Amino acid sequence: MWDEISKQAERAADRQILDLFDNDNRAAEFSLNAVGMLFDYSKTQLDEQARAALIKLAQDAGVEARREQMFSGAKINETEDRAVLHTALRNLDGGPVHVDGQDVMPEVLATLDKMTTLARDVRASDVTDVVNIGIGGSDLGPKMAAIALSPYHDGPRCHFVSNVDGADISDVLRACDPEKTVFIVASKTFTTIETMTNARTAKAWLEDKGASLDGKFIALSSNKAKAAEFGIPEDRVLGFEDWVGGRYSVWGPIGLSLMIAIGPDAFRAFLRGAQEMDNHFRSAAPHQNMPVLLALVGIWHNQGLGHATRAVLPYDNRLSRLPAYLQQLEMESNGKGVSMDGKDLTVSSGPVVWGEPGTNGQHAFYQLIHQGTRVVPCEFLVAAEGFEPELRHHHALLMANCFAQSEALMRGRSLEEATKIMAAKGLVGPELDRQARHRVFPGNRPSTTLIYPQLTPEVLGKIVALYEHRVFVEGVILGINSYDQWGVELGKELATALGPMVTGEKPTDGKDGSTAQLIAYVQRHTG
Ligand code: F6P
Repeated sequence: MWDEISKQAERAADRQILDLFDNDNRAAEFSLNAVGMLFDYSKTQLDEQARAALIKLAQDAGVEARREQMFSGAKINETEDRAVLHTALRNLDGGPVHVDGQDVMPEVLATLDKMTTLARDVRASDVTDVVNIGIGGSDLGPKMAAIALSPYHDGPRCHFVSNVDGADISDVLRACDPEKTVFIVASKTFTTIETMTNARTAKAWLEDKGASLDGKFIALSSNKAKAAEFGIPEDRVLGFEDWVGGRYSVWGPIGLSLMIAIGPDAFRAFLRGAQEMDNHFRSAAPHQNMPVLLALVGIWHNQGLGHATRAVLPYDNRLSRLPAYLQQLEMESNGKGVSMDGKDLTVSSGPVVWGEPGTNGQHAFYQLIHQGTRVVPCEFLVAAEGFEPELRHHHALLMANCFAQSEALMRGRSLEEATKIMAAKGLVGPELDRQARHRVFPGNRPSTTLIYPQLTPEVLGKIVALYEHRVFVEGVILGINSYDQWGVELGKELATALGPMVTGEKPTDGKDGSTAQLIAYVQRHTG
């Protein structure tokens, strides 16, 4: 399956991206306009043959059949024996979706109604602050989306507490009034140590301030029994099923803080956008399918050309948490070395995903992207229009910078050009050579650009669903189960065992020298 991709990668070794634009239709032929967005992947080394090979790779891997299995509720999360149905959470027209022979849609829609009622109640009350306590998928999604949609924020202030570092919750509580604050404990399992520790701290804070606990907590969880044990009444628990993965859960109850912030109508628009992307993904042919193409570009750069990382660079300040969100989505989903059948992968697993919004990153790490020895494929995102009509000139500059970066990465600057520039400044001889070399940009560095009209709730829904499906397609091609996360377990187990050693209740016997030394340092400094 991969031989043809290796062959294509060899063919592409000396290919100059800029030369591909000798074909005047290159931009149109290697772009896709769909669901109101333009995905331009023409500034990559892909040519028609390589793209065809990648599409064949996806077909041979059975992406289409697997996609149907996912949408129709088959248990494609085989290591946990679960369906993967975050798409059902945004299936707003409510067509039936069956798991174990039962239509899940009535329950999904009833939960959405319950969320709506709860959100309306909170928005209509004198609550000034809502604190979402969760971590990973129970934090990153609603937090990323709440920041992204801040122009729509007309509800109470929303805070997000995730880290078990007490600094996180104490900084938030300092700004809150115990009588006017609602805590949302968001945890699929309701056992995550960070979340439960923060939730207990919130409870103790209310008690300490003499505030009533009545109506102060809402739970979002698959584990209703644990939520009840914590003391949250049943009518304030929003449940969801195990077929919603944590990092895919922003569309359901875990999105409650977002719904409270932007209101139920805007939240539904967010779902509608995602549903539009679902319909596109489910029906479009591979070469006109945005998630499929985005995935194939990812496979090309990572497994094909061997670029180990991918930078996500939103030229949209409100998408500042998108890279962090995608880190979990992509790395927790496809960061696995064993394929579905229990064998070692024969190609590398999903890439390292990182990034920051532009233009900030330009003044920080773009140096390496332009002149470092490693190639970092870049994924730019930008809106054609901002939300500040009085600051149009800012937005024009933002877009110009975004487009300039992808052009600069592709074009580079040759030694000859650099020499001319430095000679014009009066340099000559060996000093001219030396100085010119520092100003050379190798160029031929690939990037893609996703451009959309404006960062509305619908558009955000489309973007997030686009990336979810991209992860799915890459996972199927790699033969990975994208929906479990066994790799997070070992650290949790060891942390549980280390807790009493750190506090000195247990000796560090059996620990390696380094770990014991770190604990000894703590004990020396804390007595
Ligand atoms: O430890 C990883 C993880 O399980 C993520 O997959 C998940 O999003 C996060 O922890 C939080 O889990 P929960 O929602 O169950 O608290």
